[in-house]
Amino acid sequence: MKVDGPFMKTPSLRGDVLSRIGAILQKDEGLDSKLLSVCKVLSGTVPHYDWVGFYLVDPEKDRELVLGPFVGAPTEHVRIPFGKGICGQAAATGMLFLVPDVLKEGNYLSCSPDVRSEIVVPILDGDRVLGELDIDSHMMDPFDGWDRELLGSVCHMVGPSIILGK
Ligand code: SME
Repeated sequence: MKVDGPFMKTPSLRGDVLSRIGAILQKDEGLDSKLLSVCKVLSGTVPHYDWVGFYLVDPEKDRELVLGPFVGAPTEHVRIPFGKGICGQAAATGMLFLVPDVLKEGNYLSCSPDVRSEIVVPILDGDRVLGELDIDSHMMDPFDGWDRELLGSVCHMVGPSIILGK
């Protein structure tokens, strides 16, 4: 979305993003297409979202994530075992991981030297982890309550589509 003036983390912007994502999820266009559109809305709206992607739990494997739709530079981390890296830790615990400075995180898988910070929000069905939304930023410590609330809502909204596989 193109906005005039400086980027502002307002409740109204968050509401606007969520209603656009709600409209995407209503469409009859397949899971991958929907998730890619969600990535595009997020990366196109929030300047500090430099890489936006979904990892989904592979039902064929024991506790392993597989890369789904994403926007940003290609990554070598196409499969991530539970527990490995920030994504694997979020999957193993079902908890949100916010890393303000990736250089200070010991259990981290680097995708690009440009990345300074990362947030990973699990997508849950009760206690079961279905996948997660992963966002990398080239900025140091850009994520706050506004981002947590936005991304938590997005993960809540995409859960049913992932369960249905469409
Ligand atoms: N940095 C992640 C790996 C995935 S990339 O950010 C796309 C991690 O530590 O799990």
